[in-house]
Amino acid sequence: MLRDPLAEFVDVGIPAEQPVGAGVATVVAHVNETALADSREKSLRSTRLSCLESFVVSACTGNFGHAPVDVRIHPRAPPPWDRVSARFDQSGVAMTDQTILITGAAGGVGSLLRPRLSRPDRTLRLLDVAPIPAPTTREEIVVGSVTDADAMVDACRGVDTVVHLGGQSREHDIDNVVELNIKGTYVVLEAARRAGVRTVMLASSNHAVGFSHRDQVPGKHLPADTPARPDTLYGLSKVGIEAAGRLFHDRYGINVICARIGSWFETPPGVRGLATWLSPDDGARMVEACIAAEAPGFRFIWGISRNSRRWFSLAEGEAIGYDPQDDAELFADRLVTGDEPDFLADPELNRAGGSWCEVELGKPMT
Ligand SMILES: NC(=O)c1ccc[n+]([C@@H]2O[C@H](COP(=O)([O-])OP(=O)(O)OC[C@H]3O[C@@H](n4cnc5c(N)ncnc54)[C@H](O)[C@@H]3O)[C@@H](O)[C@H]2O)c1
Repeated sequence: MLRDPLAEFVDVGIPAEQPVGAGVATVVAHVNETALADSREKSLRSTRLSCLESFVVSACTGNFGHAPVDVRIHPRAPPPWDRVSARFDQSGVAMTDQTILITGAAGGVGSLLRPRLSRPDRTLRLLDVAPIPAPTTREEIVVGSVTDADAMVDACRGVDTVVHLGGQSREHDIDNVVELNIKGTYVVLEAARRAGVRTVMLASSNHAVGFSHRDQVPGKHLPADTPARPDTLYGLSKVGIEAAGRLFHDRYGINVICARIGSWFETPPGVRGLATWLSPDDGARMVEACIAAEAPGFRFIWGISRNSRRWFSLAEGEAIGYDPQDDAELFADRLVTGDEPDFLADPELNRAGGSWCEVELGKPMT
Protein backbone atom coordinates (compact mmCIF):
# COMPACT_ATOMS: atom_id res chain seq x y z
CA MET A 1 0.00 0.00 0.00
CA LEU A 2 1.37 3.38 -1.01
CA ARG A 3 0.23 6.86 -0.06
CA ASP A 4 0.64 9.53 -2.68
CA PRO A 5 1.07 13.27 -2.32
CA LEU A 6 -2.68 13.71 -2.76
CA ALA A 7 -3.48 11.47 0.18
CA GLU A 8 -6.11 13.90 1.35
CA PHE A 9 -8.13 13.06 -1.74
CA VAL A 10 -7.07 9.64 -2.83
CA ASP A 11 -6.36 6.15 -1.68
CA VAL A 12 -3.84 4.28 -3.75
CA GLY A 13 -3.29 0.53 -3.70
CA ILE A 14 -0.52 -1.13 -5.65
CA PRO A 15 -0.23 -4.92 -5.61
CA ALA A 16 3.57 -4.71 -5.70
CA GLU A 17 3.99 -8.31 -4.62
CA GLN A 18 2.35 -9.65 -7.77
CA PRO A 19 4.54 -11.83 -10.01
CA VAL A 20 6.83 -10.13 -12.45
CA GLY A 21 5.05 -9.09 -15.62
CA ALA A 22 4.05 -6.22 -17.81
CA GLY A 23 3.60 -2.87 -16.13
CA VAL A 24 0.53 -0.85 -16.91
CA ALA A 25 -1.07 1.55 -14.48
CA THR A 26 -4.81 2.06 -14.47
CA VAL A 27 -6.03 5.21 -12.79
CA VAL A 28 -9.66 5.85 -12.02
CA ALA A 29 -10.47 9.30 -10.73
CA HIS A 30 -13.93 10.80 -10.42
CA VAL A 31 -15.00 14.15 -11.78
CA ASN A 32 -18.55 15.39 -12.04
CA GLU A 33 -18.63 17.05 -15.47
CA THR A 34 -21.91 18.87 -14.81
CA ALA A 35 -20.44 20.57 -11.77
CA LEU A 36 -17.63 22.00 -13.87
CA ALA A 37 -19.67 24.67 -15.58
CA ASP A 38 -17.66 27.63 -14.48
CA SER A 39 -14.09 28.21 -15.48
CA ARG A 40 -12.80 28.28 -11.90
CA GLU A 41 -13.88 24.67 -11.43
CA LYS A 42 -12.53 23.70 -14.84
CA SER A 43 -9.15 25.00 -13.85
CA LEU A 44 -9.45 23.15 -10.52
CA ARG A 45 -10.08 19.94 -12.41
CA SER A 46 -7.10 20.37 -14.68
CA THR A 47 -4.87 21.12 -11.69
CA ARG A 48 -6.01 17.98 -9.94
CA LEU A 49 -5.63 15.87 -13.06
CA SER A 50 -2.14 17.10 -13.70
CA CYS A 51 -1.24 16.22 -10.09
CA LEU A 52 -2.63 12.76 -10.63
CA GLU A 53 -0.74 12.41 -13.87
CA SER A 54 2.56 13.39 -12.37
CA PHE A 55 2.01 10.96 -9.51
CA VAL A 56 1.23 8.12 -11.85
CA VAL A 57 4.09 8.92 -14.15
CA SER A 58 6.45 8.71 -11.21
CA ALA A 59 4.86 5.42 -10.11
CA CYS A 60 5.26 3.97 -13.57
CA THR A 61 8.83 5.00 -14.01
CA GLY A 62 9.77 4.23 -10.41
CA ASN A 63 9.96 0.90 -8.67
CA PHE A 64 6.96 -0.67 -10.29
CA GLY A 65 8.00 -0.80 -13.93
CA HIS A 66 8.78 -4.49 -13.71
CA ALA A 67 5.48 -5.66 -12.22
CA PRO A 68 1.79 -5.36 -13.07
CA VAL A 69 0.63 -2.11 -11.53
CA ASP A 70 -3.01 -1.45 -10.85
CA VAL A 71 -3.48 1.95 -9.29
CA ARG A 72 -6.96 2.93 -8.20
CA ILE A 73 -7.65 6.37 -6.92
CA HIS A 74 -10.83 6.81 -4.91
CA PRO A 75 -11.40 10.48 -4.21
CA ARG A 76 -12.90 11.37 -0.89
CA ALA A 77 -13.31 14.99 -1.82
CA PRO A 78 -16.82 16.26 -2.58
CA PRO A 79 -17.84 17.08 -6.18
CA PRO A 80 -16.64 18.22 -8.73
CA TRP A 81 -14.97 14.78 -8.69
CA ASP A 82 -17.09 12.12 -10.27
CA ARG A 83 -15.54 9.99 -12.98
CA VAL A 84 -12.54 10.16 -15.30
CA SER A 85 -10.34 7.28 -16.38
CA ALA A 86 -6.80 7.39 -17.58
CA ARG A 87 -4.20 4.75 -18.26
CA PHE A 88 -0.46 5.20 -18.47
CA ASP A 89 2.10 2.90 -19.97
CA GLN A 90 5.43 2.10 -18.36
CA SER A 91 7.11 5.17 -19.74
CA GLY A 92 4.37 7.39 -18.37
CA VAL A 93 2.57 8.03 -21.65
CA ALA A 94 -1.13 8.66 -21.03
CA MET A 95 -3.43 6.05 -22.54
CA THR A 96 -6.80 7.68 -22.79
CA ASP A 97 -8.49 5.15 -25.10
CA GLN A 98 -7.85 1.56 -25.92
CA THR A 99 -5.10 1.15 -28.49
CA ILE A 100 -4.73 -2.04 -30.50
CA LEU A 101 -1.65 -2.63 -32.61
CA ILE A 102 -2.21 -4.83 -35.66
CA THR A 103 0.97 -5.94 -37.42
CA GLY A 104 0.68 -7.05 -41.03
CA ALA A 105 -2.46 -4.93 -41.24
CA ALA A 106 -2.23 -4.48 -45.02
CA GLY A 107 -2.71 -8.21 -45.60
CA GLY A 108 -5.82 -10.26 -46.24
CA VAL A 109 -6.69 -10.85 -42.59
CA GLY A 110 -5.79 -7.31 -41.54
CA SER A 111 -8.14 -5.93 -44.20
CA LEU A 112 -11.00 -8.14 -42.96
CA LEU A 113 -10.34 -7.13 -39.35
CA ARG A 114 -9.97 -3.35 -39.61
CA PRO A 115 -13.61 -2.37 -40.15
CA ARG A 116 -14.83 -5.02 -37.71
CA LEU A 117 -12.60 -3.90 -34.83
CA SER A 118 -13.36 -0.23 -35.28
CA ARG A 119 -14.90 1.44 -32.17
CA PRO A 120 -15.34 5.10 -31.20
CA ASP A 121 -13.19 4.63 -28.08
CA ARG A 122 -10.49 2.59 -29.76
CA THR A 123 -7.45 3.47 -31.81
CA LEU A 124 -6.22 0.88 -34.29
CA ARG A 125 -2.50 1.28 -34.92
CA LEU A 126 -1.82 -0.44 -38.22
CA LEU A 127 1.72 -1.55 -39.00
CA ASP A 128 3.02 -3.07 -42.21
CA VAL A 129 5.93 -2.85 -44.63
CA ALA A 130 3.35 -2.51 -47.40
CA PRO A 131 1.12 0.56 -47.90
CA ILE A 132 -2.12 0.53 -45.92
CA PRO A 133 -4.99 2.09 -47.85
CA ALA A 134 -7.51 4.66 -46.64
CA PRO A 135 -6.95 5.05 -42.89
CA THR A 136 -9.92 6.36 -40.92
CA THR A 137 -9.69 8.96 -38.15
CA ARG A 138 -9.49 6.18 -35.56
CA GLU A 139 -6.55 4.51 -37.31
CA GLU A 140 -2.84 5.31 -37.12
CA ILE A 141 -0.51 4.07 -39.83
CA VAL A 142 3.01 2.86 -39.06
CA VAL A 143 5.25 1.86 -41.94
CA GLY A 144 7.80 -0.52 -40.48
CA SER A 145 9.01 -4.07 -40.19
CA VAL A 146 8.29 -6.46 -37.37
CA THR A 147 12.00 -7.31 -37.47
CA ASP A 148 13.00 -3.70 -36.62
CA ALA A 149 13.39 -3.52 -32.84
CA ASP A 150 13.34 0.28 -32.59
CA ALA A 151 10.30 0.61 -34.83
CA MET A 152 8.45 -2.03 -32.83
CA VAL A 153 9.25 -0.42 -29.47
CA ASP A 154 7.80 2.83 -30.81
CA ALA A 155 4.78 1.07 -32.28
CA CYS A 156 3.99 -0.69 -28.98
CA ARG A 157 3.96 2.50 -26.91
CA GLY A 158 0.60 2.95 -25.20
CA VAL A 159 -0.79 -0.27 -26.65
CA ASP A 160 -3.22 -2.55 -24.77
CA THR A 161 -3.20 -5.55 -27.10
CA VAL A 162 -0.99 -6.55 -30.02
CA VAL A 163 -2.61 -8.60 -32.77
CA HIS A 164 0.47 -9.98 -34.48
CA LEU A 165 -0.29 -11.01 -38.07
CA GLY A 166 2.72 -9.63 -39.94
CA GLY A 167 5.33 -11.78 -41.64
CA GLN A 168 5.48 -14.65 -44.11
CA SER A 169 2.08 -16.29 -44.54
CA ARG A 170 3.04 -19.04 -47.00
CA GLU A 171 5.75 -21.59 -47.64
CA HIS A 172 9.17 -20.03 -48.25
CA ASP A 173 12.85 -20.79 -47.79
CA ILE A 174 14.22 -21.28 -44.30
CA ASP A 175 16.03 -17.93 -44.04
CA ASN A 176 12.86 -16.10 -44.99
CA VAL A 177 10.54 -17.82 -42.51
CA VAL A 178 13.08 -17.69 -39.67
CA GLU A 179 13.71 -13.98 -40.24
CA LEU A 180 10.14 -12.82 -40.79
CA ASN A 181 8.26 -15.16 -38.50
CA ILE A 182 10.53 -16.36 -35.71
CA LYS A 183 12.78 -13.32 -35.39
CA GLY A 184 9.88 -10.98 -36.19
CA THR A 185 7.76 -12.50 -33.43
CA TYR A 186 10.63 -12.35 -30.95
CA VAL A 187 11.07 -8.64 -31.75
CA VAL A 188 7.32 -8.00 -31.36
CA LEU A 189 7.18 -9.81 -28.01
CA GLU A 190 10.25 -8.03 -26.66
CA ALA A 191 8.89 -4.64 -27.73
CA ALA A 192 5.50 -5.51 -26.20
CA ARG A 193 7.18 -6.48 -22.95
CA ARG A 194 9.16 -3.27 -22.78
CA ALA A 195 6.08 -1.17 -23.46
CA GLY A 196 4.03 -2.99 -20.82
CA VAL A 197 1.52 -4.41 -23.31
CA ARG A 198 -0.93 -6.67 -21.49
CA THR A 199 -1.78 -9.24 -24.17
CA VAL A 200 -0.30 -10.40 -27.46
CA MET A 201 -2.34 -12.52 -29.87
CA LEU A 202 -0.07 -14.49 -32.17
CA ALA A 203 -1.37 -15.63 -35.57
CA SER A 204 -0.32 -19.25 -35.60
CA SER A 205 -1.64 -21.79 -38.03
CA ASN A 206 -3.13 -25.20 -38.68
CA HIS A 207 0.20 -25.84 -40.45
CA ALA A 208 1.95 -25.93 -37.05
CA VAL A 209 0.12 -29.23 -36.56
CA GLY A 210 -0.46 -30.06 -40.24
CA PHE A 211 0.38 -33.75 -39.88
CA SER A 212 -2.33 -34.30 -37.27
CA HIS A 213 -4.84 -36.78 -38.69
CA ARG A 214 -8.55 -36.58 -38.21
CA ASP A 215 -8.87 -40.38 -37.92
CA GLN A 216 -6.34 -40.34 -35.05
CA VAL A 217 -8.04 -37.69 -32.92
CA PRO A 218 -8.93 -39.43 -29.67
CA GLY A 219 -12.12 -37.45 -29.11
CA LYS A 220 -14.19 -35.85 -31.81
CA HIS A 221 -12.17 -32.64 -31.89
CA LEU A 222 -8.43 -31.93 -32.11
CA PRO A 223 -7.38 -30.03 -28.96
CA ALA A 224 -6.04 -26.54 -29.55
CA ASP A 225 -2.81 -27.40 -27.71
CA THR A 226 -2.08 -30.48 -29.82
CA PRO A 227 1.71 -31.03 -29.94
CA ALA A 228 3.57 -29.58 -32.90
CA ARG A 229 3.53 -31.55 -36.16
CA PRO A 230 4.49 -28.95 -38.78
CA ASP A 231 3.89 -29.75 -42.43
CA THR A 232 6.18 -27.13 -44.01
CA LEU A 233 9.01 -24.73 -43.14
CA TYR A 234 6.25 -22.15 -42.75
CA GLY A 235 4.57 -24.51 -40.24
CA LEU A 236 7.91 -24.97 -38.50
CA SER A 237 8.22 -21.20 -38.12
CA LYS A 238 4.71 -21.07 -36.62
CA VAL A 239 5.82 -23.65 -34.04
CA GLY A 240 8.71 -21.25 -33.39
CA ILE A 241 6.41 -18.28 -32.81
CA GLU A 242 4.33 -20.34 -30.38
CA ALA A 243 7.50 -21.26 -28.48
CA ALA A 244 8.54 -17.60 -28.42
CA GLY A 245 5.16 -16.75 -26.89
CA ARG A 246 5.60 -19.46 -24.26
CA LEU A 247 9.07 -18.09 -23.42
CA PHE A 248 7.80 -14.55 -22.93
CA HIS A 249 4.89 -15.72 -20.84
CA ASP A 250 7.06 -17.92 -18.61
CA ARG A 251 9.77 -15.29 -18.23
CA TYR A 252 7.72 -12.14 -17.91
CA GLY A 253 4.11 -13.11 -17.31
CA ILE A 254 2.87 -11.39 -20.47
CA ASN A 255 -0.44 -12.85 -21.71
CA VAL A 256 0.06 -14.68 -25.01
CA ILE A 257 -2.74 -16.31 -26.98
CA CYS A 258 -1.64 -18.48 -29.90
CA ALA A 259 -4.53 -18.64 -32.34
CA ARG A 260 -4.06 -21.61 -34.63
CA ILE A 261 -5.95 -20.19 -37.56
CA GLY A 262 -7.71 -22.45 -40.06
CA SER A 263 -8.80 -20.67 -43.27
CA TRP A 264 -9.55 -17.00 -42.54
CA PHE A 265 -11.10 -15.74 -45.75
CA GLU A 266 -14.27 -14.08 -46.97
CA THR A 267 -15.68 -17.53 -47.89
CA PRO A 268 -14.45 -21.11 -47.34
CA PRO A 269 -11.71 -21.96 -49.85
CA GLY A 270 -12.78 -25.33 -51.25
CA VAL A 271 -14.16 -28.47 -49.65
CA ARG A 272 -11.47 -28.58 -46.93
CA GLY A 273 -12.67 -25.12 -45.89
CA LEU A 274 -15.99 -26.68 -44.82
CA ALA A 275 -14.04 -27.85 -41.77
CA THR A 276 -11.34 -25.17 -41.44
CA TRP A 277 -13.09 -21.88 -42.31
CA LEU A 278 -12.85 -18.87 -40.03
CA SER A 279 -15.41 -16.34 -41.21
CA PRO A 280 -14.50 -12.63 -41.19
CA ASP A 281 -17.06 -11.92 -38.44
CA ASP A 282 -15.93 -14.86 -36.30
CA GLY A 283 -12.31 -13.79 -36.82
CA ALA A 284 -13.22 -10.42 -35.34
CA ARG A 285 -15.13 -12.16 -32.51
CA MET A 286 -12.04 -14.21 -31.75
CA VAL A 287 -9.79 -11.13 -31.65
CA GLU A 288 -12.33 -9.27 -29.47
CA ALA A 289 -12.27 -12.21 -27.05
CA CYS A 290 -8.46 -12.04 -26.91
CA ILE A 291 -8.60 -8.28 -26.27
CA ALA A 292 -11.23 -8.64 -23.53
CA ALA A 293 -9.72 -11.66 -21.76
CA GLU A 294 -8.76 -10.53 -18.25
CA ALA A 295 -5.87 -12.86 -17.52
CA PRO A 296 -5.61 -15.46 -20.26
CA GLY A 297 -2.02 -16.41 -19.43
CA PHE A 298 -0.49 -18.54 -22.17
CA ARG A 299 -2.92 -20.58 -24.22
CA PHE A 300 -3.79 -22.03 -27.59
CA ILE A 301 -7.12 -21.61 -29.30
CA TRP A 302 -8.38 -22.75 -32.68
CA GLY A 303 -9.23 -19.93 -35.07
CA ILE A 304 -12.17 -21.53 -36.83
CA SER A 305 -15.91 -20.95 -37.10
CA ARG A 306 -18.66 -23.15 -35.69
CA ASN A 307 -18.51 -25.32 -38.82
CA SER A 308 -20.70 -28.42 -38.79
CA ARG A 309 -17.87 -30.44 -40.34
CA ARG A 310 -15.15 -29.12 -38.03
CA TRP A 311 -12.81 -31.49 -36.23
CA PHE A 312 -11.01 -28.77 -34.27
CA SER A 313 -11.94 -28.04 -30.68
CA LEU A 314 -13.68 -24.78 -29.86
CA ALA A 315 -13.58 -25.40 -26.09
CA GLU A 316 -10.30 -23.53 -25.52
CA GLY A 317 -11.56 -20.45 -27.35
CA GLU A 318 -14.91 -20.61 -25.59
CA ALA A 319 -13.03 -20.55 -22.28
CA ILE A 320 -11.96 -16.97 -23.05
CA GLY A 321 -15.32 -15.92 -24.46
CA TYR A 322 -14.88 -16.74 -28.15
CA ASP A 323 -18.34 -17.73 -29.35
CA PRO A 324 -18.28 -18.29 -33.12
CA GLN A 325 -21.60 -17.82 -34.92
CA ASP A 326 -20.90 -18.82 -38.51
CA ASP A 327 -20.90 -22.21 -40.23
CA ALA A 328 -19.19 -22.99 -43.54
CA GLU A 329 -22.05 -25.40 -44.25
CA LEU A 330 -23.86 -22.44 -45.76
CA PHE A 331 -21.49 -22.83 -48.73
CA ALA A 332 -21.66 -26.64 -48.98
CA ASP A 333 -24.02 -26.73 -51.96
CA ARG A 334 -21.67 -24.53 -53.92
CA LEU A 335 -18.48 -26.37 -52.86
CA VAL A 336 -19.56 -30.01 -53.01
CA THR A 337 -20.30 -30.59 -56.65
CA GLY A 338 -19.89 -34.39 -56.94
CA ASP A 339 -20.01 -37.12 -54.28
CA GLU A 340 -20.09 -36.20 -50.61
CA PRO A 341 -16.46 -35.69 -49.50
CA ASP A 342 -15.08 -38.36 -47.16
CA PHE A 343 -12.99 -36.47 -44.61
CA LEU A 344 -11.42 -39.70 -43.32
CA ALA A 345 -10.65 -41.53 -46.55
CA ASP A 346 -9.34 -38.55 -48.50
CA PRO A 347 -5.73 -37.97 -47.29
CA GLU A 348 -5.97 -34.24 -48.00
CA LEU A 349 -9.11 -33.86 -45.91
CA ASN A 350 -7.88 -36.24 -43.21
CA ARG A 351 -4.86 -34.05 -42.35
CA ALA A 352 -4.98 -30.69 -40.60
CA GLY A 353 -2.53 -29.23 -43.11
CA GLY A 354 -4.37 -30.54 -46.18
CA SER A 355 -2.35 -30.44 -49.41
CA TRP A 356 0.47 -28.47 -47.73
CA CYS A 357 1.71 -31.80 -46.32
CA GLU A 358 2.94 -32.58 -49.83
CA VAL A 359 4.32 -29.31 -51.17
CA GLU A 360 8.07 -29.07 -51.82
CA LEU A 361 9.74 -27.92 -48.61
CA GLY A 362 11.13 -24.39 -48.80
CA LYS A 363 9.84 -23.69 -52.31
CA PRO A 364 8.29 -20.23 -52.23
CA MET A 365 4.57 -20.36 -52.91
CA THR A 366 3.27 -17.83 -55.35
N1 LIG B 1 -5.42 -16.28 -43.88
C1 LIG B 1 -5.41 -17.45 -43.31
O1 LIG B 1 -6.25 -18.32 -43.56
C2 LIG B 1 -4.36 -17.82 -42.30
C3 LIG B 1 -4.30 -19.13 -41.81
C4 LIG B 1 -3.35 -19.44 -40.84
C5 LIG B 1 -2.50 -18.47 -40.37
N2 LIG B 1 -2.57 -17.20 -40.89
C6 LIG B 1 -1.62 -16.20 -40.40
O2 LIG B 1 -2.32 -14.99 -40.19
C7 LIG B 1 -1.47 -13.90 -40.53
C8 LIG B 1 -2.15 -13.01 -41.57
O3 LIG B 1 -2.42 -13.80 -42.69
P1 LIG B 1 -2.84 -13.12 -44.08
O4 LIG B 1 -3.64 -14.13 -44.80
O5 LIG B 1 -3.41 -11.78 -43.84
O6 LIG B 1 -1.44 -12.99 -44.78
P2 LIG B 1 -0.98 -11.88 -45.84
O7 LIG B 1 0.23 -12.43 -46.52
O8 LIG B 1 -2.13 -11.46 -46.68
O9 LIG B 1 -0.56 -10.66 -44.90
C9 LIG B 1 0.65 -10.62 -44.23
C10 LIG B 1 1.04 -9.17 -44.10
O10 LIG B 1 2.28 -9.12 -43.40
C11 LIG B 1 3.04 -8.09 -44.00
N3 LIG B 1 4.45 -8.28 -43.72
C12 LIG B 1 5.33 -9.11 -44.33
N4 LIG B 1 6.55 -8.95 -43.80
C13 LIG B 1 6.44 -7.99 -42.86
C14 LIG B 1 7.35 -7.38 -41.99
N5 LIG B 1 8.65 -7.72 -42.00
N6 LIG B 1 6.91 -6.43 -41.16
C15 LIG B 1 5.60 -6.06 -41.16
N7 LIG B 1 4.69 -6.60 -41.97
C16 LIG B 1 5.11 -7.55 -42.81
C17 LIG B 1 2.73 -8.19 -45.48
O11 LIG B 1 3.07 -6.99 -46.16
C18 LIG B 1 1.26 -8.49 -45.46
O12 LIG B 1 0.51 -7.31 -45.54
C19 LIG B 1 -0.16 -14.49 -41.00
O13 LIG B 1 0.72 -14.54 -39.90
C20 LIG B 1 -0.53 -15.89 -41.40
O14 LIG B 1 0.57 -16.77 -41.29
C21 LIG B 1 -3.47 -16.86 -41.84
